[in-house]
Amino acid sequence: MRFIGAMLAAAAALAFSGVAVAQGPLVVKFSHVVAEATPKGQGALKFKEVAEKLLPGKVQVQVFPNSQLFGDAKEMEAVLLGDVQFIAPSLSKFDRYTKKIQLFDLPFLFDDIAAVDRFQHSPPGQALLDSMKNRGLQGLAYWHNGMKELATNRDRLIRPEDVKGLKFRIQASDVLEAQFRALGANPQKMAFAEVYQALQTGVVDGQENTWSNMYSQKFHEVQKTIAVTNHGVIDYMVVTNAKWWDGLPADIRAGLKQAMDEATAHANRLANELNERDRKRIEEAGKAKIQPLSKEDVAAWRKAMEPVWKKFEGDVGKDLIEAALKSNQ
Ligand code: LMR
Repeated sequence: MRFIGAMLAAAAALAFSGVAVAQGPLVVKFSHVVAEATPKGQGALKFKEVAEKLLPGKVQVQVFPNSQLFGDAKEMEAVLLGDVQFIAPSLSKFDRYTKKIQLFDLPFLFDDIAAVDRFQHSPPGQALLDSMKNRGLQGLAYWHNGMKELATNRDRLIRPEDVKGLKFRIQASDVLEAQFRALGANPQKMAFAEVYQALQTGVVDGQENTWSNMYSQKFHEVQKTIAVTNHGVIDYMVVTNAKWWDGLPADIRAGLKQAMDEATAHANRLANELNERDRKRIEEAGKAKIQPLSKEDVAAWRKAMEPVWKKFEGDVGKDLIEAALKSNQ
């Protein structure tokens, strides 16, 4: 009797210590919506590799690409519910959690990815990683994808008037909605996993994305023209459940943090290269025409999208916009 009592007490102590002694490694899930052959896909795989190397037998990372586990509509709730531990939504998809991150969607805010990178590393950029803590989400890192291009199922795509009245798929972002309204087009919010079919069946006429996303999803096969607008950015914030993260044993959190830092460096090193590679592949495939734009053409797009800034200046904050603009120098 005394023996059984001691056993029960020991079992209870173990259970309360939160240490999975007999159950094997802690399984953590990383879910995302893109293909593996993209910057984010490669970053997630690197995270798994390094985390399992640094924490052998303690942590197992399962990566689920291509919206296999959760798509855009469900992944944030899934993190908050503890059904998945890491996701990396594009910065366009956080506006239900903080208005500040809408900054990144302002059209023609950043000259290039180097400027985006400088801003993300600045104190105001780093502060945004903590801006959703009160909503239960902890930002751990920024990952790059690249600058966005505009594509349609029309032959001509040079000036803003060429998209008047066209239907565009957009990410779930009010800023992007305003951007297409400013162009006289009809935006439709849609999960990433549904875009190919929507383009193929003509539910929408066009979309905006990076070269790597367009190539890996075969969008170029169902679009006629891709204009090199570079009018915005698709980058990511890797987020986790703030409570879960804070409650991890210190050695596990430190190992996961180091794995995240290495994965970040890896993904960000690769991003440009993968987008350039996929731009060439789209060119070689010869299905969609790549439309270069003159300085005057780009200026016309910039002018047409200008009203968006005024509309969101209050929500985002003038100080943050100014800090972002400084990173262009
Ligand atoms: C999109 O929905 O177009 C992108 O955010 C997908 C992604 O994660 O790159």
